[in-house]
Amino acid sequence: MSSQDIPEENLPSEQGDAHDGAVATTADPFADPGLPPHEHRVQDIDERAAKRSERVIAFLFLLSMLATVGFIASYVALPVDKIIYVYPIGHVSALNFSLGLTLGVALFCIGAGAVHWARTLMSDVEVADDRHPISAEPEVKAKVLADFKAGAEESAFGRRKLIRNTMFGALALVPLSGVVLLRDLGPLPGTKLRHTRWSAGKLLINQNTNQPLRPEDISVGSLTFAVPEGMKEDDHDFQQEVAKAALMIVRIQPENIKDKKELDWSADGIVAYSKICTHVGCPISLYEQQTHHVLCPCHQSTFDLSDGGRVIFGPAGHALPQLRIKVNEKGYLEALGDFAEPVGPSFWERG
Ligand code: FES
Repeated sequence: MSSQDIPEENLPSEQGDAHDGAVATTADPFADPGLPPHEHRVQDIDERAAKRSERVIAFLFLLSMLATVGFIASYVALPVDKIIYVYPIGHVSALNFSLGLTLGVALFCIGAGAVHWARTLMSDVEVADDRHPISAEPEVKAKVLADFKAGAEESAFGRRKLIRNTMFGALALVPLSGVVLLRDLGPLPGTKLRHTRWSAGKLLINQNTNQPLRPEDISVGSLTFAVPEGMKEDDHDFQQEVAKAALMIVRIQPENIKDKKELDWSADGIVAYSKICTHVGCPISLYEQQTHHVLCPCHQSTFDLSDGGRVIFGPAGHALPQLRIKVNEKGYLEALGDFAEPVGPSFWERG
């Protein structure tokens, strides 16, 4: 399209073309209005007001330090189960309330102190600069360094030692709140996770019916869940123990069992494996009877129960632990000991 094809009102005027950058003309609707005149704050012209601001900022940083100390003291001193009434929230855990309040005050005071400092004492002179090429010339770099030094001097960071020191104090203390929370990781489990309630002579109890299992209760193609005898729901550690000892039982034709050890540890083709996935511990619940594969619903790890519980797919790092079982003289399925290796996730160092 040539300029003759463009309507005349859309062509740039000569006056506009002559205009460059911030030089405003009456024909330029986008003229740079420039910065408004700088107005001094009371702290810029009154040293007593500046001192007052300095004290307020230091007070906020000190308050932050006290709140952090209060956080740590609450964490150490308050019992976990103490309940208090707080208006208008109602009944709350004293520990949670106190931790939230003190940490909130500690962080708020650091933020409020920094904002107050920037608004009242740091230089507020606005500067407009032209955009420059990305790679800076050495003299530009030197100017940046000089500006940085001038800025540091203007902020009075070095001169206002009270603010600087209290701010460093507040910033140094507040991370301690996170350090003391490490206590919640609790004591190391020791050997607790290495053992379950299974031991020699314990009957396999059907988790649904609560009855001891006989071999004839386990049909080919079914997946049965069991727990050791003697577990009571009102035991204080029932949930923990049942989570570790949960067992799944399937019947496989002995000739289809590929792993020799698995065959030796089975009874009449009945094999018993930990139900806890060796990836991150989800309970396994899906059984494919044609292939004897079990699938963990969490991340799709798949184990072959006809081949020693081997992992055939997915992120799990270890085979499922097998429980050695037999049929006792009364015709019930019974364990011959505990699992030979820890059940569950793969963080264990296994030999
Ligand atoms: S927990 Fe089973 S695959 Fe992740």
